[in-house]
Amino acid sequence: MKKIASLLLFVLCLKITYSQEVSIIPQPTKLVASKGNFSINSKTQIVLAGSGLENSANFLNDFLQKFYGLTLKVVTKGDFKNNIVLNYFKMEYPIAGAYNMHVNKDGIIIEGDNATGTFYGIQSLIQLLPTTKVTTLPVPFVEIEDKPRFAYRGMMLDVGRHFFPVSYIKKYIDFIAMHKLNTFQWHLTEDQGWRIEIKKYPKLTSVGSHRNGTIVGRFPGKSNDGLKEGGFYTQEEIKKLVKYASDRYVTIIPEIEMPGHASAAIAAYPQLSCFPDSSTKHSSKTPWFGPENGKQVQQTWGVFEDVFAPTEYTFHFIEDVLDEVLPLFPSKFIHIGGDECPKTAWKKSAFCQQMIKDHNLKDEHGLQSYFIQRIEKYLNGKGRQIIGWDEILEGGLAPNAAVMSWRGETGGIEAAKQKHKVIMTPTTYVYFDYSQTKHEDSVTIGGYLTLKMVYNYEPIPQQISKEEEKYVIGAQANLWTEYISNSSKLEYMLFPRLTALSEVLWSSKENKNWESFQKKLTTQFKRYDFWNWNYSKASLDPTSKIMEPQKDLTIVKK
Ligand code: ACM
Repeated sequence: MKKIASLLLFVLCLKITYSQEVSIIPQPTKLVASKGNFSINSKTQIVLAGSGLENSANFLNDFLQKFYGLTLKVVTKGDFKNNIVLNYFKMEYPIAGAYNMHVNKDGIIIEGDNATGTFYGIQSLIQLLPTTKVTTLPVPFVEIEDKPRFAYRGMMLDVGRHFFPVSYIKKYIDFIAMHKLNTFQWHLTEDQGWRIEIKKYPKLTSVGSHRNGTIVGRFPGKSNDGLKEGGFYTQEEIKKLVKYASDRYVTIIPEIEMPGHASAAIAAYPQLSCFPDSSTKHSSKTPWFGPENGKQVQQTWGVFEDVFAPTEYTFHFIEDVLDEVLPLFPSKFIHIGGDECPKTAWKKSAFCQQMIKDHNLKDEHGLQSYFIQRIEKYLNGKGRQIIGWDEILEGGLAPNAAVMSWRGETGGIEAAKQKHKVIMTPTTYVYFDYSQTKHEDSVTIGGYLTLKMVYNYEPIPQQISKEEEKYVIGAQANLWTEYISNSSKLEYMLFPRLTALSEVLWSSKENKNWESFQKKLTTQFKRYDFWNWNYSKASLDPTSKIMEPQKDLTIVKK
């Protein structure tokens, strides 16, 4: 009896030891590892035991080819021995993406609740592979049961401040998918650049997609680089990117910003402004390059007074733009911005003041609410729903709108209480443009957001009731790119914070543990190196760990 007990203890210890060595992020619901490996080699086949699983097989094969020079044969009928079998299992769980994985001496079986779940199983399998280039790939024996916590698991990218090419957007979508996130909010229009081809309004891209220069250094800027910056995505490119994302179970939500952050559109079509004949304004401290007369695409950062006029011309323009946007993006949600819209121009404009009277609106906030509700009605009529930043609460929320709570959690709490869907994205926890260490050696927007602060973020605010919790459909991190002009800096700001976010959004609260996450990061850093992703090592800096959030850093935009 004693012998059996010690044997059991030994087996248990082995399992615990191996579970600790297996490092999967986000942490699966259940994970048991045991001694032994199954080896993937050139003879291993991928067996598709169910239909519609080709995306998973293709993703795995592309990955194996890229990093190990290996391509596996994909078959639909095959011996379960020595192979990777992809299949389905039935699960009653409201959020798509659950999967089970078994690795033993016979081979690997990944079963998803649907094709999405199988794809996430593949992502976990990828994390079981070696982080060096070898041709026989040992995969530790594991039993995994896993499922996501939140339905909305998002990451945003601002391509308005700095443009990133199609090839890099694909890489960004891969970052999202490989962390088991499912939504990419693509911020496509800004004061500093309009990035989406609209055939009816060619000047949006011929004029609005470029600026003559960009400030150098932190706002207001030491100088101006005088370099033409810009670019845009054609509708053909966008269609391909939407398909690329959908093959990875990522939905792209386009953001077409209104009524603020509209300088680039106004530079292209000045009639969109309340004051078409007045020149674009910028801070007198900002070094400007090129012509200053007339409407210009902005060269500096901040919030600008020249916003869309709420005229029939503008509403027709926006509807025309949306008519071209909708066929490109099948997402249920369309993001219409709504943040940071100064009311200065509307206050000065006789037209706006008359409109406030004619529609019995309280003030300019009421006018913004009228603006958003009118666009919401248009989009609802086309079968879509709007998301707006939390300013859309001011002056009255549009009836079916979802709210993205960015100025803290208050907007999200308020929207949930009003029974509206909420996506939490508060600056304090998920603004990845913020500095991640005191010893930051490059310019950032300011703020202070360590890896641990991201990891410990809880998207369900304490102030809402059990009944209201269901309105918080998930969370998202935002990457604004005022001070991010290249991919190396982008990845430095993103990693490892995105990796921490994935555990916030996917893993159950019980399964999250900061100490074990830190241990897993050692392997994650090896993966970043092997996969050629840049990242910040700030979390390894002992002095950055003890830093309190800085209060003296001015956040220019936010
Ligand atoms: C925002 O950061 N202005 C939504």
